[in-house]
Amino acid sequence: MSFRLQPTPVDRPNRCQLFGPGSNTKLHPKMAASAADVINLDLEDSVAPSDKDAARANVIAATKDIDWGTKTLAVRINGLDTPYWYRDVVDLLEQADERLDQIMIPKVGCAADIYAVDALVTAIETAKGRTKKIAFEVIIESAAGIAHVEEIAAASPRLVAMSLGAADFAASMGMATTGIGGTQENYYMLHGDQKHWSDPWHWAQAAIVAACRTHGVLPVDGPFGDFSDDEGFIAQAKRSATLGMVGKWAIHPKQIALANEVFTPSDDAVTEAREILAAMEQAKANGEGATVYKGRLVDIASIKQAEVIVKQSEMIKGA
Ligand code: COA
Ligand code: MG
Repeated sequence: MSFRLQPTPVDRPNRCQLFGPGSNTKLHPKMAASAADVINLDLEDSVAPSDKDAARANVIAATKDIDWGTKTLAVRINGLDTPYWYRDVVDLLEQADERLDQIMIPKVGCAADIYAVDALVTAIETAKGRTKKIAFEVIIESAAGIAHVEEIAAASPRLVAMSLGAADFAASMGMATTGIGGTQENYYMLHGDQKHWSDPWHWAQAAIVAACRTHGVLPVDGPFGDFSDDEGFIAQAKRSATLGMVGKWAIHPKQIALANEVFTPSDDAVTEAREILAAMEQAKANGEGATVYKGRLVDIASIKQAEVIVKQSEMIKGA
């Protein structure tokens, strides 16, 4: 470990972030009743320009009128390249209930984007005497966002989570796909006459995880557009979990259980992790730094890997 220790991210379940348009008030109570850990009421791309004002009023009302239980409650504001975002921040900070936990900033391209929103939020919080500091989450969904991902992850102590937004990311990168996440037909290796599909999102995901882990931010996988493809969602989510992401968005309620399942460590995984910890305790008692568990090497690094799984499981159970 470097002399500079890796900071611990916020201690909360973030297995599934459920989105719904701010303009669709019928969905809001259903979102509150869902099993998602995080709720993202949207003012951005699922809301038509003509509906922006009404959607803003709806989400402010929803922070007051709906019982969101223990969920993390977030609102996605409009991007800094639009005429809407400042009004989103001003109205939310001046009028939303203190129940609002978080603002999601889309399409961030550099640390200064966060700085701008932070300055505005801080001024309003102080002016209005808001006691709860609003947290930030951001979406990396552009070439600039991924190029500057580390400075973005370090941009503000308010920042708690960062998601990959596959659709806008693909567009910004000029990727030849209209798919939102998942396997891409033309992204394959050829071995003899056999095609092996590879993962075009892997690089961006790994870059996000590294930036997030360096700065104590939760890395989250974004949307999977084809909500009739459960197997495709699960495969994408399992790859994300394997890379170190803690959760994934749901853009339809049927994706919530799938995300919760993948991002909750299984009983078998927790049992194995505990057995590895016990084996290492025994090794330590014998004065050894490494030992054998089920025919494979485990050493001091295995303790840290096992602790990730046990800690995640305990945090989710305790939520
Ligand atoms: N949250 C909670 N409930 C939802 C929901 C959501 N995001 N989306 C749909 N539902 C509800 C429906 O109201 C319906 O409820 P009912 O059984 O009581 O009638 C049920 O789930 C089944 O919905 P379905 O008919 O399959 O979908 P739909 O045609 O009503 O809506 C979408 C499909 C994609 C338009 C809708 O899911 C949606 O708006 N998703 C979020 C989009 C979004 O926020 N995008 C921005 C982030 S990428
Ligand atoms: Mg987007």
